[in-house]
Amino acid sequence: MTSPTPKPEAPPKLKDNTTTTSFQTRTLSVPPGPLGTWKDNTLQTWLPPPSPPSALVTATTHLLTSPIPVAFPTETVYGLGADATNASSVRGIYLAKGRPSDNPLIIHISDLDMLSSLLAPAPIPEIYLPLIEKFWPGPLTILLPLPSPSPLAAEVTAGLGTFGVRMPDSELARSLIKMAGRPLAAPSANASTRPSPTTAGHVLEDLRGRVEVIVDGGVCEVGVESTVVSGLGGERVVLRPGGVSLEELRAIPGWEGTVRGYGDGVLGAGEQPRAPGMKYKHYSPRARVVLFEHGGKVEAFGEGETVGLIRAGGWEAGCGMGVVFEREVEGDGEILVKEGRLGERRVLDVGLGGDVKGVAHGLFAALRELDRLGADVIYVEGVDDKGEDIAAAVMNRLRKAASEIRA
Ligand code: TXA
Ligand code: MG
Repeated sequence: MTSPTPKPEAPPKLKDNTTTTSFQTRTLSVPPGPLGTWKDNTLQTWLPPPSPPSALVTATTHLLTSPIPVAFPTETVYGLGADATNASSVRGIYLAKGRPSDNPLIIHISDLDMLSSLLAPAPIPEIYLPLIEKFWPGPLTILLPLPSPSPLAAEVTAGLGTFGVRMPDSELARSLIKMAGRPLAAPSANASTRPSPTTAGHVLEDLRGRVEVIVDGGVCEVGVESTVVSGLGGERVVLRPGGVSLEELRAIPGWEGTVRGYGDGVLGAGEQPRAPGMKYKHYSPRARVVLFEHGGKVEAFGEGETVGLIRAGGWEAGCGMGVVFEREVEGDGEILVKEGRLGERRVLDVGLGGDVKGVAHGLFAALRELDRLGADVIYVEGVDDKGEDIAAAVMNRLRKAASEIRA
């Protein structure tokens, strides 16, 4: 491994037109295998492996000694992590991502011991206990009252009186958090507005030169971010749809009446979202995304030299347009692209299968892959989100990524 010394190269331009030093970015792989265990088989105390892989040791050192965030995998998407108790480390996240600082970050904990240290002397609110029991570790973020004083850096919560927290279902992530001995603030490890990363390669694409360490733990299982819920002040509300569905939430005692508290549009000026992150255009590749609501069909390829297709079970390959397929390209994140021609037009076709969990798993990777292969426009087949399943998260992300939505 080479040294982590900053490299004096062309500094990347940030959104606000300031520049930052460019770093040498290293991707450190963690070999597959068990990465820790629960003490007593409860969520109370997580024990990292006695001899952790060197990637985790290096990442821990960075988290504790450098204000530059570290990218690491979770079961949902890759996160860009920093010590949530250290203000300059947290500022490093906003800087690396080019993320507006009025958007609060999710805190990641290794175990309930760590959660207690963030709430003390208050206990975990009762209403959350059945959710924790059922969905942690996993893709569910809960909002908790911020104690005063709080060990969390003010930059984490962007001035709100609550903080969002989750326990990831990734042994790697929990061990990294525990080894650092600090809660990690971690948004998705993409550049602001880009699709969230589900592989270390995606992170590198966006953040090369902006971070020093990317921990590579393979492809993320869920593929969309966690569900954000609030049960505070008598409300039961989903603020962001994600890996845990409304149907699963409503099956929990006390949560039967859970309502949707989000919209899928990009909000206009003056409109106030409950989860501040929901107001920005998000999840977008460079290509123009045209989303077809469930049941909609592509009638013609109207524009662009290179047309990308993302199919979700209803459309046939090439949308039945007579595309002549010539080769298959294996992309990052378990994405298989069939490339072909229709007259002068190049067509790039990805089938994500008919199972909505599979669609969620591959969606961001497919958008990125078609971008990388040069699609000018991407036609996406929407899924049926009238029910209460993870389709809500898929369509939420797609509506935000889309430049145009067709019926
Ligand atoms: O799956 C995930 O949640 C990923 C992985 C890395 O764990 N993390 C993630 O974090 O998506 P981020 O920071 O990109 O998304 C945080 C979302 C935003 O929509 C934000 O506005 C909302 O959660 N949020 C965080 N804290 C909040 C709070 N106190 N009140 C309301 N919304 C909050
Ligand atoms: Mg994000």
